Amino acid sequence: MSPSASPKFKNPRAKHDFVGRTCSITGVGSYVPEKVLTNSDLERMVETSDEWITSRTGIKERRIAAAEEFTSDLGAKAALKAMEMAGVTAEQIDLVIVATITPDMPFPSTACLVQKKLGAHRAAAFDLEAACSGFIYALEIGQQFIMSRTYETVLVIGAEKLSAITNWKDRNTCVLFGDGAGAAILQNRPNSHGLLTAIMGADGNKADLLSMPGGGSRCPASNETVAAGMHYLRMDGKETFKNAVQAMTSAANEAMRRCEVNISQIKCVIPHQANRRIIDAVSDRLNATPEQLFVNLDKYGNTSAASVAIALDEAVASGRVRRGDLILIVVFGAGLTWGAAVIEW
Ligand SMILES: CC(C)(COP(=O)(O)OP(=O)(O)OC[C@H]1O[C@@H](n2cnc3c(N)ncnc32)[C@H](O)[C@@H]1OP(=O)(O)O)[C@@H](O)C(=O)NCCC(=O)NCCS
Repeated sequence: MSPSASPKFKNPRAKHDFVGRTCSITGVGSYVPEKVLTNSDLERMVETSDEWITSRTGIKERRIAAAEEFTSDLGAKAALKAMEMAGVTAEQIDLVIVATITPDMPFPSTACLVQKKLGAHRAAAFDLEAACSGFIYALEIGQQFIMSRTYETVLVIGAEKLSAITNWKDRNTCVLFGDGAGAAILQNRPNSHGLLTAIMGADGNKADLLSMPGGGSRCPASNETVAAGMHYLRMDGKETFKNAVQAMTSAANEAMRRCEVNISQIKCVIPHQANRRIIDAVSDRLNATPEQLFVNLDKYGNTSAASVAIALDEAVASGRVRRGDLILIVVFGAGLTWGAAVIEW
C-alpha cells in the first residue's frame, strides 16, 4: 500500500510516472568501544589542554577500540542492535553496505567481514567510501534497492576505527577523532514516507584538504611512506571548517526545499558531529533552535561515517524523535563530500 499524500510536506520521490515503494528505517543501533580517552589523557600525550580542545571543538572525550577490535567488529555489534529493533534475522538481510574510511584492510571489503560475523549468508555486501558523508550516501544507495523492489531488507552501517589512522603525536588532528559504529535497517513500511529525500554532493578539486595519502596505489606502503607519516590522516583545519559550514548549510536547505518544509517543521536536526563550532555556525544559518539540535560529540568526537548513525540511534533511544516526526540529517567530509536527508521517522 502506498502512503497517502501528506498536507505537511511533499514527497519528492512521488513524481513522474515512476511507481516505487517508500523506504523507511525500521531499526537503528550503535556501538562504541569501552575505552574512554579524555582531554586530560591527551594532555599527557601532546602539548594541549582540556580548555583548548573544549573551546575550539566541544569535544570532552572519545572512544578508542581495543587492539584486537576492528571496524568490522564495531559494525557487526551496531548491526545486531538495529536488527533486534527491526525484528530482522540475519537470514532476511539482502544487502550489507558498510560506509567507512578505516576498513579492516583494503580488501576484502569490511561489508563481507560483517556479513560473515552476522551469518547473513544470503546478502550481497560492499563497502562505500564517502568519508564522513558515508552514512547519507549509504542510506540513499540502500534506499534505491528497496524502492525498486529489488530487495526487501538492506543493512546500512557507518563504522570507523579512526584511532588506527590517527597520528597520536599531531595535536592538530589527534584531539578530534574517535571510534564507533551505527547501523540502520532499511525496509518498506506501508503507510510511511520514510526517507523523503537525500542530497549527495562532492568536489574532488578539494581532495587535498583532508586525506590519508599513503597505502593506496599512488603511494603504496613502504619504509619511506611510513617514515613520512603518510599512513596517517592529514587535514587543513581552517579551510575544512569554512567548506563544511557552506556545504552543510546549502545541502540542508536544498533537502528541505525539495520536501517543501521549513526548519520549524523539523523535530530533530542531526548534524555531522565534527566540531561544535561548525554545528553552531550551520545551525545559525538554518535558524535551528538549540532544542532541535542533537549533539553528542562531547562524548565521542568525530567518528566520521559512524557519527550521524550513532547520533540517530541515540536521538531515537532518548525519545527525541518519535514516529511521524521529521528529521534532518546533514553531513560533510573528505573528498570533499557532503549530504543531507529529510526523513519521516
Ligand atoms: C582544527 C581546528 C579545531 C583548529 O581550530 P582553529 O581555530 O582553526 O585553530 P588555529 O588554526 O587558529 O590554531 C591556533 C593554534 O592552536 C594550535 N593548536 C592546534 N591544535 C592544538 C591543540 N590540540 N591544542 C593546543 N593547541 C593547538 C595550532 O598549532 C595553532 O598554533 P600557532 O598559532 O602557534 O601555529 C579547526 O580548524 C577545525 O575545527 N577545523 C575543522 C576540522 C574538522 O572538523 N574536520 C573534519 C571534517 S569532516
